[in-house]
Amino acid sequence: MLLENKVIIVTGATSGIGAATALEAARQGAKVVLAGRREDKGEALAERIRAEGGKALFVRTDVCRAEDIEALVARTLQVFERLDGAFNNAGIPGPVGTFVDVPPEEYRRLMAINLDSVLLCMQHQIRAMRKSGGGSIVNCASILGLVGAPAFSAYSTAKHGLVGMSKAAALDHAAEGIRVNAVLPGPVETEIWNHVNQGEAVFAAFTSGVPMQRYARAEEVARPVVFLLSSWSSYVTGTSLAIDGGYTSR
Ligand SMILES: NC(=O)c1ccc[n+]([C@@H]2O[C@H](COP(=O)([O-])OP(=O)(O)OC[C@H]3O[C@@H](n4cnc5c(N)ncnc54)[C@H](O)[C@@H]3O)[C@@H](O)[C@H]2O)c1
Repeated sequence: MLLENKVIIVTGATSGIGAATALEAARQGAKVVLAGRREDKGEALAERIRAEGGKALFVRTDVCRAEDIEALVARTLQVFERLDGAFNNAGIPGPVGTFVDVPPEEYRRLMAINLDSVLLCMQHQIRAMRKSGGGSIVNCASILGLVGAPAFSAYSTAKHGLVGMSKAAALDHAAEGIRVNAVLPGPVETEIWNHVNQGEAVFAAFTSGVPMQRYARAEEVARPVVFLLSSWSSYVTGTSLAIDGGYTSR
């Protein structure tokens, strides 16, 4: 198993790509810490993992709250005594709309969730990983971390920033045995599209640009993430892995 006895945090673990990754990591032997805001969904997923014979702990976490992030890592160390990996995945899509009309307060909220929170998460995670002798962090960016798309300026700004932040952290901590990589999913059918105005049409437009001519299932993102969290990618750091059916190769 790729993650036997590794302790892994997943943020935004209560749905979509986060939930799929938590499940796959547990199936690969990890002790998984599920971080999210929705207690009912988080506890249900933890229970499902335990029912399959895995180990999981849900910690209620709003990644906008610095004290929640600190408590998440502290609780992980208290229960599992180490930290080997983290998937910083929590994110929102909006505000969606023309650049000139983006409301500044919504822009700032998106940046707080999609970018600033990852800085804080990584700082606490890296401190914990140092004590564990190294680790692997994967940040969930997007194809919009590499290219733009009409009406997604705030999201695209944050995801481009996340790619840069991942490289910067990778360089600063490579010599300590802490790897940092980003994944760049293309369109994946998850709840995130429910929060986009005319989400179905926008999702279809993205999907029609995919050379493989289909969207990804959450598991198809989860498995490359598990690979990056595992020692099978032990010489991979600072990279951005597109999981996009060829979208950004056009
Ligand atoms: N679905 C796609 O097409 C797609 C494509 C590229 C990248 N992504 C990225 O994948 C990641 C996961 O999204 P998803 O598609 O699984 O959608 P999703 O909506 O199912 O997952 C996002 C998760 O983040 C959580 N979250 C949001 N704000 C939070 C906060 N303040 N604190 C804690 N958790 C919070 C949500 O509750 C949710 O569980 C996001 O970062 C998203 O930008 C998604």
